[in-house]
Amino acid sequence: MSDKFRIGVFSSGNGSNFEAIVKADIPNVEVSFLLCNIEDAYVLERAKNFSIDSILLPHKNFESRKDFEKEIISRIQDYDVDLIILAGFKRILSPFFINYFEKKIINLHPSLLPSFPGLRAPKQALEYGVKFTGCTVHFVDDGVDTGPIILQGLIEILDSDDEESLMKKIHEKEHEILPVAIELISEGKVKTTEGRRVFIDN
Ligand code: GAR
Repeated sequence: MSDKFRIGVFSSGNGSNFEAIVKADIPNVEVSFLLCNIEDAYVLERAKNFSIDSILLPHKNFESRKDFEKEIISRIQDYDVDLIILAGFKRILSPFFINYFEKKIINLHPSLLPSFPGLRAPKQALEYGVKFTGCTVHFVDDGVDTGPIILQGLIEILDSDDEESLMKKIHEKEHEILPVAIELISEGKVKTTEGRRVFIDN
């Protein structure tokens, strides 16, 4: 096993952020595996193309969330990762899993949290009528999209935007900020506090 900072990426779908992380080729960071819970997710193809180990674990094969999460833990244990990245992983992880990897899980969300948590955030932003939205990288706590914020990217909403065009712009921004957040964490530059604020060393 290399002495690099090892990361595991969890994704359930297209995997454009997984690919952005791999392509960013972050110094001293190794993408150790992809974990996916959906059999025909395109992200599995992407992992294959980059010769990255993939672990397919369909959640529907498990009777309970805890059984599913226990199996994840047992399958990823040997990779001994320093950080888990939820990049479009469409399963809520229970406090059991989150506490097991305390402060070692980050999530990507397509809005400026705490606005528009949950599903279809770009649609929520359009319907609300905000003029700016964006994307957020945050530590995962036991709420949904509630953890301490590490980085955010800002996107202006134009009158001409619809859900598709907005999602495209948000994706492009996500592909920029997620690798930056991972790099900063790997360099030990991200400091958490007792409260919600996260500080980044220059
Ligand atoms: C990303 O836009 C990410 O922000 C979103 O899923 C997408 C995955 O895209 N995550 C959430 O909505 C989590 N609440 P990708 O599969 O192309 O990387």
